[in-house]
Amino acid sequence: MPDTSSSAGVGRYVAAAERATARRAADLAAMRRCRFDTLAVHGLYTMQEALDFNQGSIIEPIFMSTSQAYRDSDEMEAALSYRIPTWCYSRIANPSTYYLENTLALLDGYGFQGETSCCATSSGMAAIHTATEPFLAVDPKRPGARLNFVATCQVYGGTFQLFNVRYMQERGVECRWIRNSADLDEWASKIDENTRFLYGEMPSNPGQAFFDLAAVARLAHAHGLPLIVDSTVASPALLRPLCHGADVVVQSVTKSMTSSGFGICGAVIARHGLTSRFGGDELRANFAGYLKLLPNRDLGPNLSPMNAILSLNDLRTLRSKMDLLSRSTMQVAAWLERQPVIEGVDYLGLPSHPLHALASRYLFLVDAEHDAQYGQPVNRYGHLMSFRVKGGPAPTRKVFDAMQRIWRATDLGRIKSVATIPAISTHSQQGEEGRCLAGIPSNLIRLCVGGEHPDDIIADLDQALRAIDGKVQRAVPAAFSAGGASREQPGR
Ligand SMILES: Cc1ncc(COP(=O)(O)O)c(C=O)c1O
Repeated sequence: MPDTSSSAGVGRYVAAAERATARRAADLAAMRRCRFDTLAVHGLYTMQEALDFNQGSIIEPIFMSTSQAYRDSDEMEAALSYRIPTWCYSRIANPSTYYLENTLALLDGYGFQGETSCCATSSGMAAIHTATEPFLAVDPKRPGARLNFVATCQVYGGTFQLFNVRYMQERGVECRWIRNSADLDEWASKIDENTRFLYGEMPSNPGQAFFDLAAVARLAHAHGLPLIVDSTVASPALLRPLCHGADVVVQSVTKSMTSSGFGICGAVIARHGLTSRFGGDELRANFAGYLKLLPNRDLGPNLSPMNAILSLNDLRTLRSKMDLLSRSTMQVAAWLERQPVIEGVDYLGLPSHPLHALASRYLFLVDAEHDAQYGQPVNRYGHLMSFRVKGGPAPTRKVFDAMQRIWRATDLGRIKSVATIPAISTHSQQGEEGRCLAGIPSNLIRLCVGGEHPDDIIADLDQALRAIDGKVQRAVPAAFSAGGASREQPGR
């Protein structure tokens, strides 16, 4: 016998929740009439929300609590069956994370004619795993089929490992690498009836591979497949793949969005009603919401509330930051290109880059046409560039070791300029063969220009390049802390 008193009680909570849902829809509609900067500053955290539920706090509070209390069993039942808005338990959801997710869904959905949702994760890698894994479930009708997916080979080293080792070697799912992502025929030739999705990183880290997003999305959809794009390097301030036909965007929010370097954070942002011939209706209807409430509830890779608010606070100035960093990077890249000891500079903003024309069709500073400073669309190419030093790895290391203002670290998108040698760091695990495939030679330095004045970065590079002649020597015998930090040993 159904417990009717409980059903009536549950019904009252469901009715009350409808009013909250209507208010959220009205807030969302109002925000969607605002420009990018306003979305980045406010997201869906309204003054009313602050006054009604958060002691009037003008900044989104950090809810560190693990779990939410319910008034009675009826509310608990309604909540845990997902019939009313709830956050329940911080592995599944959390109010602070909710504010971040709404902001990210608005930013990557800016200009997109349709609804978007976001599922925040504990890192960019968790986002990539979260976004791809559900498409690789075994089809009960064809349990023996060898599944595959198609991906650009120029991807972040962690992504390469996930696809190559975890999926391909350990699970037997075939990753079909695209060598030249600008070649549409190559994409088409790799798709068959066992393909589950197409995946691309653009611009790629560090090679800055770039493809014709709209054309690849059309191809994916013609086969009933979703296109997943990692657009971490551009950020939504320069590129919003959903507007060009992509179904899912993954972001390492750790990078340009959390430029202070205070948090690791990832996000999956998806359009509602995505294309996928595989999976259930729930997956297609609201992919990010599905991920959050179902697979991630069970797998547990969601974001901590502290990191949610640290990231949220940083990304409020994303547009102006990306503009500044892009302009400075352009200056530094143009200077480096003129230096005789440099074999080549890879920066999509340089007319010499083979993909400059293609990138110029996609990479624009959002809202430049509404900015009094510009008044028209302007191309911006981001903060990531790389350069190759003549003479191989030895002089490359000399230049790298001589940097004084630019930090040596495996990091990017920071407000501080950071450089690394990908072959010995971010892309070391994939081995020589993998690096060859992705075009990452051992004389390549990846440089991400930060918010310093570009003159000072150029001055640092200038003195570092002179180290090739042996003029700057630096030997650092190290003592290590248990945590892994090293310092110069006294008396040596
Ligand atoms: C393009 C890109 N995607 C994903 C990631 C992974 O992000 P996270 O370090 O937040 O896991 C990185 C990290 O450098 C990256 O550069």
